[in-house]
Amino acid sequence: MEYLVGIDVGTSGVKVLIIDRDGNVVSSGTEEYPLSTPRAGWAEQNPADWWAGTVRCLKKTINKAGINSVDIMGVGLTGQMHGSVFLDRENRVVRPAILWCDQRTTKECAEITRDVGKKRVFEITCNPVLTGFQAPKIIWMRNNEPELYKSTVKVLLPKDYIRFLLTGEFATDVSDASGTSMFDVRKRRWSDEILAKLGLSKTLLPESFESTEITGYITKEASKMTGLNEQTPVVAGAGDQAAGGVGNGIVEEGLVSVSLGTSGVVFAHSDKVSPDPKGRLHTFCHAVPGRWHLMGVMLSAGGSFRWLRDTFFADGKDSKKHTYDAMTSLAKKVTPGSEGLIFLPYLTGERCPYPDPEARGVFFGLSLKHKKEHIVRSVMEGVTFGLKDSIRIMQEIGVPVCARFRISGGGGKSDLWCQMMADIFGGNTVRLSSEEGPSYGAAILAGVGTGLYKDVVSACKKMIKEDDSSLFKPDKKNNTVYNKFYGLYNNLYKVLKEQFDNLAEIS
Ligand code: XUL
Repeated sequence: MEYLVGIDVGTSGVKVLIIDRDGNVVSSGTEEYPLSTPRAGWAEQNPADWWAGTVRCLKKTINKAGINSVDIMGVGLTGQMHGSVFLDRENRVVRPAILWCDQRTTKECAEITRDVGKKRVFEITCNPVLTGFQAPKIIWMRNNEPELYKSTVKVLLPKDYIRFLLTGEFATDVSDASGTSMFDVRKRRWSDEILAKLGLSKTLLPESFESTEITGYITKEASKMTGLNEQTPVVAGAGDQAAGGVGNGIVEEGLVSVSLGTSGVVFAHSDKVSPDPKGRLHTFCHAVPGRWHLMGVMLSAGGSFRWLRDTFFADGKDSKKHTYDAMTSLAKKVTPGSEGLIFLPYLTGERCPYPDPEARGVFFGLSLKHKKEHIVRSVMEGVTFGLKDSIRIMQEIGVPVCARFRISGGGGKSDLWCQMMADIFGGNTVRLSSEEGPSYGAAILAGVGTGLYKDVVSACKKMIKEDDSSLFKPDKKNNTVYNKFYGLYNNLYKVLKEQFDNLAEIS
């Protein structure tokens, strides 16, 4: 039997997945690592932790599978997007990596937008320049750590640093490169114009490839450390969202997935490049060669629910799962609309549809009648309204959206939340029969790149199935109620925007 490996260099940890050629999961493992917040709004990690975790995880997962590593036909990489690893001439990391959720670059975003031109940067990258993206981080380093910047000769995205250690090659893929503000998303290559306007040399960046292309082979040294066979091909892979799109089978127009993890992501495939003219959603290259995807990324979706658990419900006695179950049981007691309580889920600022690092969470409409259960339900509803924002914009700009949403992520495990999404979106929601996420997509990409599968679309059709036993249909009455609350939810950010800025100034 032939096998494929997917490696997901995530934010909380690394995941390694081994599947057989029919798509069955043979073995999987995770290793966690810390995240540091040296200042409010900053988020950093040590790339050496990613590598140590990857090595440990590969070893244990290959061992657990009980397979011969010569039967592993290829490796696909995926991981947290937008982060920056800065390397010097000796390929040493010069400072901790700055992550996707780091918000330090407001000034640099304005600088890039001014230097490239607001209209031009949007024409080329199909997106506005956002604080989480990579180019503002490079300019931030040039502005704030000039000595370290001078010694930097390469800047890599997180998974591409792991690629370098596995294969000795500097490479990236078109989907991850799309989130740098330096990539020509229409032409699927680095933008010489943007690099020139920002005074950045192209040699700083790795070569870019389509996600299924082979970018290198496991070196002797990496083979000894990880248990992978020397010369095993490593394909370009994809950013976690595009790889997750493949893992959820979102590889044809009309299909849309909703992932309810720490962040919340609505993801749609697009055959052509058709950005949201207002830049409220991201338009990136897809991991399907020659195709694109649109997505709305909420920064605190499941993250809001976790905050609620950690702050008010975790007594240290119950397991996390037990506490989540107890919380959703409470929420069931309350009717849709939480008796007039609305939650805005902007606990860490927001990205889509409001790119606003200063936005904050709000409970609106709180009264004496509200109890714990209302608070829990309103948090779930507020997050779901935030996801609906992205679906509504997709529909508004003409992206085909079928009335059936594929749900994944921790929040999708709750039946109540799946039903709530169906009621609020006004469409069916369904889980997939196996949900392994981005690492599954990365393994599929490796299978296409090494010739095991003909192409991404046919591989997904064969391996990814909806679980019809977990289909949730919208309740018309609830949908009508929710539409009224959604209207109000939608107005609240607009009314509060200026006050969020005032709050940031005094706090
Ligand atoms: C996508 C995004 C997150 C990170 C971390 O734009 O910012 O999905 O990739 O998972």
